[in-house]
Amino acid sequence: MLGKMAAPVLEHGEDAFRKLFRFYKRRNPPPDFSQVIDFSKRVDDERVFATELDHSSLGEVAACSAGLRPVKEWRAFGLQAHPGFIFISNPFLPGSQRYWIKQCLKAYPQKPNVCNLDMHMSSTETENIWEKSVESIRKKGKREPRTLLEKLRWVTLGYHYNWDTKTYSADHYSPFPPDLHTLSQTVAAACGFPGFQAEAGILNYYRSDSSLGIHVDESELDHTLPLLSFSFGQTAVFLLGGTKRQDPPTAMFMRSGDLMVMSGSSRLLYHAVPCILPAPACQPLPSCLDQRLEKQPVSEDLIQDVSEEDWAVCSRYLQTSRVNMTVRQVLGPGQTLPTTQPLVGAVSESRSGYHDESEEAAQNVKKRKNESGSEVDC
Ligand code: SIN
Repeated sequence: MLGKMAAPVLEHGEDAFRKLFRFYKRRNPPPDFSQVIDFSKRVDDERVFATELDHSSLGEVAACSAGLRPVKEWRAFGLQAHPGFIFISNPFLPGSQRYWIKQCLKAYPQKPNVCNLDMHMSSTETENIWEKSVESIRKKGKREPRTLLEKLRWVTLGYHYNWDTKTYSADHYSPFPPDLHTLSQTVAAACGFPGFQAEAGILNYYRSDSSLGIHVDESELDHTLPLLSFSFGQTAVFLLGGTKRQDPPTAMFMRSGDLMVMSGSSRLLYHAVPCILPAPACQPLPSCLDQRLEKQPVSEDLIQDVSEEDWAVCSRYLQTSRVNMTVRQVLGPGQTLPTTQPLVGAVSESRSGYHDESEEAAQNVKKRKNESGSEVDC
């Protein structure tokens, strides 16, 4: 392990999560990734078991229309330490991830959806982020200022998450994208949650130096419903912990096309993304993104082909980026949300979201509410 930092010894009773988060976030010397579970390979690890999904819940035609392989071909896994957690190793058909990536970069950042740039820019300035960015991304030289697309950190869909109050409200809502709703319903059904309603989405945009602080997603009113997570682009290390910060987390790679489902007793676990792995020079984009769709989509299909022109921008962007979509059902049967409480003072961009981009930022205390309602630092 010459030149690499070995895994820290975790002592019970201290904040084991933060310790491991810092370990994987460190760049110099680079950490030892040997304990990180890699579901893209043959998994021979006592922490992991293969899990069967409900093949009958989803016809092959419906799966294919959403760009997914037939459920019987999905490689799904559970973790011994985290019942209710499901990891599905890239179930997308060749070429179909391109559609979802284009939606994340071109369609979903559009108004009326909300993004981090809205916190300090006018709505005219944050209109048409894609159109305002593409020229510069196409011809990008190293020293050019970042485009709006490259400054995007998060987008919220459906019930827009309020980072300041950590709540959703009935009157801060825009229609959830129907295509992502169908994809989410399809995946949820295969995982044993038929009738899942995608009501809120948070898209996180990671540059190569980004990370996502330790948090629990608990603002939804019904925690019996799963949280779905879809990853595209560069590989991340994902940490899944317990209900307490001193529970040591399990580390796993999340690669392009991978899905995660947090349900049951894993729904309210601490989790975080300490780092994005730099792409190898010989393979700037994951190879699963090389292909175009094999089958010509028909008009009833949910996903459509991405033009070469649009893909040129997406692929350029993804060489140094990762995009993650988390989708949640907020309300259980009979539940309703209150309307917005007036806020004292404006939400500043630095207080919104939970990205931290540098070692310096890692030193800053980031706050998210823990399960008892008090603030925790990440
Ligand atoms: C999240 O926890 O909100 C996103 C996690 C990820 O980016 O994988």
